[in-house]
Amino acid sequence: MKALLDSLTPDHPDWPLARAIDPDRLPAHIAIIMDGNGRWARKRSLPRVAGHKAGIDPVRDTVECCARLGIQALTLYAFSVENWKRPRSEVETLWRLLRYYLRQELPKLMANGIRLRPIGRLDGLPFNVRRELEDVVHLTSANLGLQVNLAINYSGRAELVDAVNRLVKQAQAVHADEPFEVTEDSLAAELYTSGLPDPDLLIRTSGEMRISNFLLWQIAYAELYVTETLWPDFRQPDLLRAILEYQKRDRRFGGLTASPTVASRTEPLAVARIK
Ligand code: IPE
Ligand code: IPE
Ligand code: MG
Repeated sequence: MKALLDSLTPDHPDWPLARAIDPDRLPAHIAIIMDGNGRWARKRSLPRVAGHKAGIDPVRDTVECCARLGIQALTLYAFSVENWKRPRSEVETLWRLLRYYLRQELPKLMANGIRLRPIGRLDGLPFNVRRELEDVVHLTSANLGLQVNLAINYSGRAELVDAVNRLVKQAQAVHADEPFEVTEDSLAAELYTSGLPDPDLLIRTSGEMRISNFLLWQIAYAELYVTETLWPDFRQPDLLRAILEYQKRDRRFGGLTASPTVASRTEPLAVARIK
């Protein structure tokens, strides 16, 4: 938080927003559905890929702002399993832009202690994209600052199916007479976000009121914030406004009073008994 104020001067237009944020009530984890690139391009009579290209600057801005705020984790939805339905040329441009972003940003990720982790079915990605991602993951793995999860070839349902399949394998490995119970904790431990707090704040740009198969399990109690701003136009003040709105919310987690902590997952829940 201090780093954000240090990066601004009192005459900067973002100063009042930054000052209004309560440093003690920051979301630990922010998730963003980065949507609206195509509409941004259409409004300018440009091809859709121009919108994707313009979508890189807000990624840079958002990552930097979260690092300055001292946010623990940022999960960005970059490509869904369903996005393969798009024209091949658009998909190929997205891979090219991702590789460009990774190459460009690596020095800044290192300088700011940012750890990058892709989440999704990575074996379905083109080989050169996977190799580049693996390099950045390896190089940033010891960084201790903000963790950026890049959801690529991601599907919330696929994530849950993969997690359940791993639990089934574990169940098959135990002796038949030993009980094997799936709990919320054991299921969560098999998700890509294992070890991270669930997102407190989910932002979607471009006004769509849907989840589009993103983090279905993890957003159980996330505060939702939808802005009409198209992703290529999203910048630091938009993020600060989302956080300010989040800080006004009364998070009750099913109880009657606001709670500073997330709903506990410690109660064993017999979701399934696998023999
Ligand atoms: C989000 O922008 C980027 C991806 C899904 C890859 P869109 O490309 O979905 O933009 P719109 O929704 O068509 O405006
Ligand atoms: C969600 O946006 C996926 C990403 C932002 C990567 P879409 O544009 O694919 O979602 P729908 O089709 O509007 O639901
Ligand atoms: Mg879209």
